[in-house]
Amino acid sequence: MKRKSVNKNKWSDHYTKQAKKDKYPARSVYKLQEIQSKHRIIKKNNKVLDLGCSPGSWLLYAAEQTGGNGKVVGIDLEPVSINLPPHVRTVKGDIFSVRTDATLMGNKYDVVLSDMAPATTGNKTVDAARSFELCREALSIARDILVSGGNFVCKIFQGEDFKLFSESVKKEFGNHRIFKPKSSRSQSREIYIIGIGKK
Ligand SMILES: C[S@@+](CC[C@H](N)C(=O)[O-])C[C@H]1O[C@@H](n2cnc3c(N)ncnc32)[C@H](O)[C@@H]1O
Repeated sequence: MKRKSVNKNKWSDHYTKQAKKDKYPARSVYKLQEIQSKHRIIKKNNKVLDLGCSPGSWLLYAAEQTGGNGKVVGIDLEPVSINLPPHVRTVKGDIFSVRTDATLMGNKYDVVLSDMAPATTGNKTVDAARSFELCREALSIARDILVSGGNFVCKIFQGEDFKLFSESVKKEFGNHRIFKPKSSRSQSREIYIIGIGKK
């Protein structure tokens, strides 16, 4: 028991230290990096929407991938307080009410990312159900605003609705992948569903 927690701390320390060294506010950046290395989701000059973007690691990394002629827009319940390049914009808000924001929803995007996580309760069934609700909304937003051929990355906590969600993504994209980054703790129930090439 003790050994497990020591290893877990070593693991978090490694990625946290690395993120600090690389000047990202969170270690979650390495998950997107792995996804990008494997699937090249974000391309130069792309327009990217990042759902659940705080504290801002994915925003920074996505902005590097699009380059200054691209555009990255993030939304989160929490504000983003880090310095961001000029082609990144953030909105503080709830994705369930984002549809009323014309500046956000009036545009088409090449990529929709969601690393959203619900406030966890410790009850796996409840947490997975809340994660599923966030994923369903993320997919619904992606359906409305992605260009044809656009890409989608979505974190989900594995639970009884996981298969259903995965199948919905599969139906709407030319290719579909389920990806567990090495930088995601093996004990964590989070996994990423990737949709490539919106039909
Ligand atoms: C794991 S963090 C994202 C980390 C981010 N990808 C990064 O690299 O900095 C998950 C985020 O999802 C956000 N979130 C959860 N529910 C949300 C909702 N309904 N609307 C907007 N953001 C939400 C949380 O506030 C939290 O900041």
